[in-house]
Amino acid sequence: MNRLILCLLLCLTTFSQNVLASVLAIDYGSDWIKASLMSPGVPFDVLLDKSSKRKIQSTVGWKKEDRLFGSDAFNIAGRFPTDSFSSLKYLQAVPYDSPAVSFYTSISTADILPTARHTVALKRSDGTEWSVEELIAMQLAYVRELAESAAGEKVSDVILTVPPYYTQHERDAVVDAVEVAGMRTLALIHDGTAVAVNYAMTRAFAEQPEYHIIYDAGASSIRASVAAFSAIPADAKSSKKDIATAIAIKGIGYDRSTGGTELDRRLREILANDFVKKHKKDIRADKRGMAKLWKEAGRVKAILSANADAMASVESIAFDIDYRSKISRSEFEAACKDLQLKFAKPIFDALSNAGLSLDNITSVILTGGSSRAPMIQTAVKAAVGESKIALNVNADEAAVLGAALHGAGLSRQFKTKDIRVTDIAPYDIQVSYHSEAKSEHSKTRTINTLVFPAGSKFGSRKTLTFRRKDDFSLKVIYKNTPVPGSPTDLLEVEISDIPEALKNLTEAGATDPVVKATLVLSESGFVTVQDAVAYGEIKDDSIAGKLKGFFGAGSSSSTESETERETIARSESVSTSAEGEVPSQAEATPEKKAPVKDTIPLGLNVKLSSVPPMSVSQKRTARERAEASMRRREEARNSLEGYLYRVRDLLEEEGETPFRKCSKEAERDTMKEKLEETLSWLHEHGDDADTRDYISRRTALESYEQPVMHRYSEIQEFPKALNISQMWNWSTRMFLTEAKEALAASQVDGAEEPSLSKYTKEELEALEKTLIEHETWLNQAVEKQKAVKMYDDPAVESSELASRAKVLETHLQKLVKKKVPKRKATSSTAKPSSSSSSSSSSSSSPTASSSVKEETTPREGHHDEL
Ligand SMILES: *[C@@H]1O[C@H](CO)[C@@H](O)[C@H](O)[C@H]1NC(C)=O
Ligand SMILES: *[C@@H]1O[C@H](CO)[C@@H](O)[C@H](O)[C@H]1NC(C)=O
Ligand SMILES: *[C@@H]1O[C@H](CO)[C@@H](O)[C@H](O)[C@H]1NC(C)=O
Ligand SMILES: *[C@@H]1O[C@H](CO)[C@@H](O)[C@H](O)[C@H]1NC(C)=O
Repeated sequence: MNRLILCLLLCLTTFSQNVLASVLAIDYGSDWIKASLMSPGVPFDVLLDKSSKRKIQSTVGWKKEDRLFGSDAFNIAGRFPTDSFSSLKYLQAVPYDSPAVSFYTSISTADILPTARHTVALKRSDGTEWSVEELIAMQLAYVRELAESAAGEKVSDVILTVPPYYTQHERDAVVDAVEVAGMRTLALIHDGTAVAVNYAMTRAFAEQPEYHIIYDAGASSIRASVAAFSAIPADAKSSKKDIATAIAIKGIGYDRSTGGTELDRRLREILANDFVKKHKKDIRADKRGMAKLWKEAGRVKAILSANADAMASVESIAFDIDYRSKISRSEFEAACKDLQLKFAKPIFDALSNAGLSLDNITSVILTGGSSRAPMIQTAVKAAVGESKIALNVNADEAAVLGAALHGAGLSRQFKTKDIRVTDIAPYDIQVSYHSEAKSEHSKTRTINTLVFPAGSKFGSRKTLTFRRKDDFSLKVIYKNTPVPGSPTDLLEVEISDIPEALKNLTEAGATDPVVKATLVLSESGFVTVQDAVAYGEIKDDSIAGKLKGFFGAGSSSSTESETERETIARSESVSTSAEGEVPSQAEATPEKKAPVKDTIPLGLNVKLSSVPPMSVSQKRTARERAEASMRRREEARNSLEGYLYRVRDLLEEEGETPFRKCSKEAERDTMKEKLEETLSWLHEHGDDADTRDYISRRTALESYEQPVMHRYSEIQEFPKALNISQMWNWSTRMFLTEAKEALAASQVDGAEEPSLSKYTKEELEALEKTLIEHETWLNQAVEKQKAVKMYDDPAVESSELASRAKVLETHLQKLVKKKVPKRKATSSTAKPSSSSSSSSSSSSSPTASSSVKEETTPREGHHDEL
């Protein structure tokens, strides 16, 4: 019902019909991926996967050669525990030695190792290593393919949800994976904010803000956002009374150590302990057993959501043991006792962050897959009061649908409800630099300036002013470590050309010029240094006029990181102007126009942090690897399918088709039978089959079609081969005739110079023998082949014809290539006949004796020169 209204709210704008492009929204979670497509002519909804499911398990895996996604990939973990990769979201941009990696090893059976960037890679059982970004990119590419088949066109613009606590490094990792997957990031949106957009889409608000808390219990964390909803004039300048909806995030709270996965882990601990107690064997040492137990823990947790107890049961879990155990909800809850207090805490953190109290909140909107867990719901109800709890959004899909609506608004190609979103930064961001040394020996101090305190609005910028005489560099850093083990450094920026620019400004009449650097906090939460300039106020207009020539003289080097984020920056500037906001919170940018101020751009070199984003070439390599690695199963399946339809057409075609002419009825019947068998196999088992099944089925069917195809091709090839045979027959005969004449002539002349004949009698007789053998065989072959019906296998293969002709050809060539016997210059004019006659004979057979001709011609030329 909700979706129907949304459909009605969306209609295409008419002016940009030609450039309409789809926008894909992806909610990449630790357990589940949800996607939604905004595409012209496609009903707006959650994107379905190949088995029509509305969410895709967040797993990529391999079964031997076959790359698998979703539940296919998840379900093989029990058999191939190091070839199934889940919960990868935990590892985005994580340094290899950080606590997040230790946690991951406690939940996963995957083999991990460091990358060259000191982030995490995972190793398959065949030894191949894949970085986390690559594995996530494969899943994003899988989603892209689903979207492209739904849209019927290429899909490249994507908006992704990220948790509000994501650091710049983690955001970079998301954008990197998107690029490796062959898409562009239109924007990132905090998941709670996306839910707020979805919530606002079908509701109207008053001018007075209404506060709601979006409580999002996911697999890897729990987070809460305080959102203020209100009605604002759509256009402050115009007198029209159009209303827009404003959503402002006022505060956020989160806990990165609590969530659905931690509940799974605790439940698996209960089961593992129980197994060890019962069976006296260390299940923890058995990867298959632990992977099976992980899956079972998830299943049991779901049962305990609705029941007081559940039966855990895994056949042949490890050590040939069938494991069964009863577990009660109270036992499970007791094991999670310490978490109970943590479930609701993000709500209060978000409130205090926003400077509000529960009284100000209209409702607490529950969302996220784990919000259904009774343990969590009970804790939240107890904390905020049952009356405040709202279950009015789809816990699984609200975020991705909200993101799609927001993305559609940003792309400005779809007309959606006018919603203006303001989000906030999770961490204090400061700039750190060394003070200028007063003299050569004086010490410099480190100066830290808070630029964007936590809670700063996304889409704002700040200009810092420095009184510096020399080039210097500054670091953009998080004031505090955002998450244990994560780096705090974001960017290191070198500003250059300062002395020269200051000199130029001073010479132009500026007094006391300064250096200014502008930092931008983008709508997607990235901080960048936008530019650095030297600035000085110039009183004298005439000199200022002269100074115009200086504009653009400085070089502002564009760095890799800047170009990589270009799409994000671009889309954001679009959205900002669309929203009619003045994002500038500039501290020191005077707006007054006169007196003339002059600005010289400075050199800007941005270096990346200790966990840098992937470089352009790293991304390209990753993309090529991922694309090359697998597709095989899909390809094999498609190729089998295509083949089956082709064979069916061949069999069904009426009339005297080549296929019918070249096949016997019994053969066609067998093929029909095999075809039907394979079609029904494909229908029943096609989804679980692996690459080799498809290939062997195809090969089996091909073995029936092959003889028919061979007959048909022989019908084409035999006459051609025969022509060539006959041609060599004919050429040889001509050669022999003339060579024999030459030999006879040389003997008649008086035998004083028998070497005048190029060939001896023996040579010519040997060639003739070969020729007669060839002719005899050829005549028999032609007779035999004449009796063969089209639907019979050929009596003589064209390949045999060719190889027989080759024997004759080789023999002939040997004689033709024979060196001309040495002779006296005086007799040279008299006796060119044998060689020239052989060449004329071969050149008169136009097609095939080119090789003969090639060999004789130069020798002839040489001969003439003598
Ligand atoms: C929040 O509630 C308190 C107490 O009810 C009230 O004084 C305050 O004005 C409210 N704040 C806002 C922003 O509504
Ligand atoms: C300073 O002025 C000189 C001379 O006009 C010019 O070549 C140079 O590029 C200027 N330097 C900067 C940094 O603007
Ligand atoms: C064989 O040669 C003859 C004469 O050169 C030509 O007319 C005919 O088309 C050739 N046949 C094939 C199958 O090449
Ligand atoms: C080979 O060539 C000779 C003379 O040119 C011809 O009489 C004979 O029929 C040919 N044999 C075959 C098999 O084509």
